[in-house]
Amino acid sequence: MFYLLASASFVEITTDLYTENLVEHYAGDTEVVDWLRDEWQPEELQHGVTLKRYVEIVWPDFDWERAYQGFFEEYAKLCNAAQLEVTRAQEMVARCIVETGTSSYYTMLRDLSPEPLLKQIAHHIRNDEIGHYKYFYRFFRRYAAQEAVSRWATLKALWTRIREIDTEDGLIAYKHAFLVRHPEIPFDPDRYEQFRRTLNAITRAHFPFTMAARMTLKPLDLPTPVERWTVPLAASSARYFLSH
Ligand SMILES: [Fe+2]
Ligand SMILES: [Fe+2]
Repeated sequence: MFYLLASASFVEITTDLYTENLVEHYAGDTEVVDWLRDEWQPEELQHGVTLKRYVEIVWPDFDWERAYQGFFEEYAKLCNAAQLEVTRAQEMVARCIVETGTSSYYTMLRDLSPEPLLKQIAHHIRNDEIGHYKYFYRFFRRYAAQEAVSRWATLKALWTRIREIDTEDGLIAYKHAFLVRHPEIPFDPDRYEQFRRTLNAITRAHFPFTMAARMTLKPLDLPTPVERWTVPLAASSARYFLSH
């Protein structure tokens, strides 16, 4: 739980680094830019601040600031505009996937937490993330209509973003939390692999797969009968891949 919460606090609190890239990508679209600056970014930041406070209260010996400094130095190098998708519609699809991930992640955290305050925090964050998804989805529809994006192109954008999940962010966050928590032990990437395996086992049992599959497939705008079988299929495939 410590590593999950510390990592989430690091990534959420660093949203401003990413916001500028995103704002630049949508320059001229005041509806999107204003929403990103006035609502999205402050909410993501608030998630980070709340989780940080929680970590500091529960693990008072952990020097959050120092760990974050290490994380930031490494993470900032990865965050550049080149990471954004090519078109505006495609980037909105990518954002939908990110918000699907966070919504599902906090849903799982809420359901798993034996501690009432954490449960409540995770519940509020989860609701915000679902709210973000809805905005990004609406913006996606608008751009998809303008750019005449095909279902195939949307699927490709979805797939690209899904493959990028779980790249280096998790490792960087874990590493810096670990280095500060156990300064006497040298960091070995195998530790992270071990943590991943444990996390995968928890995820397999508790992740809201159906909710995540429904949100992931929504931008494809599939006809209802098709959606009826693709959602459970995608959900069970995701569960299957996690166990292999
Ligand atoms: Fe967030
Ligand atoms: Fe979000």
